Amino acid sequence: MQKEEFYQLLESRKSIRKFKADEVPREVIERILAAGMQAPSGKNRQNWRFFVVTGEKRREYLKYSQKSWLGIKDILAQRLKPSLYQFTERFFFTLGDAPVIIFAYSHNDSEERYHTSIGSVYMAVENMNLACVVEGLGCCTMGAPLEIKEDVDKFLGVDQLSEYKKGELELLCALVLGYPDHTPPKAPRQLEGRVTWLK
Ligand SMILES: Cc1cc2nc3c(=O)[nH]c(=O)nc-3n(C[C@H](O)[C@H](O)[C@H](O)COP(=O)(O)O)c2cc1C
Repeated sequence: MQKEEFYQLLESRKSIRKFKADEVPREVIERILAAGMQAPSGKNRQNWRFFVVTGEKRREYLKYSQKSWLGIKDILAQRLKPSLYQFTERFFFTLGDAPVIIFAYSHNDSEERYHTSIGSVYMAVENMNLACVVEGLGCCTMGAPLEIKEDVDKFLGVDQLSEYKKGELELLCALVLGYPDHTPPKAPRQLEGRVTWLK
């Protein structure tokens, strides 16, 4: 890959919140997961755990997504202009009709510091965002399920796992993905005040 292509890939990634009905082939989802698992991780513990939800189970999740909206809507009502607020509300109710939801968990055990465990999983999540671009898919990383963490743990059956019972499995985010059905503008980046150089 040329240097320019790499930077172009980073720049072209945008959160997509409206998807076509087309299913995503399983081998494509598997490549995206494999891209995620190429990420670095603290002590190479590869402490990410992914739960892939499609089909009827995905449809069933919508009622939880709607519940997560209740935890966020008041903050967004203050921050977003009305048209964007309505779009976002609809997105939470439908997840933009995304055919695939991948829930990302961190396995936090005593072998590794908490923050490096969490950070490792988010590195995998960014790899997956970029793999979606390469695959012609759109993706939106969502922290919203954290509003209803325990519901999601039960919905996925994560609460039955031994690591969960030891308090070691933590939901970090969901990725909704599918073939894009809109082309939103690039969200602007603010560079000022983000970097301090020292000599
Ligand atoms: C950790 C994390 C959580 C996010 N949670 C949500 C969410 O719950 N709902 C949503 O619509 N977008 C969510 N986003 C997407 C951001 O709003 C988006 O990345 C940001 O506005 C920049 O836009 P861009 O991704 O198009 O560059 C989340 C992104 C990250 C990294």
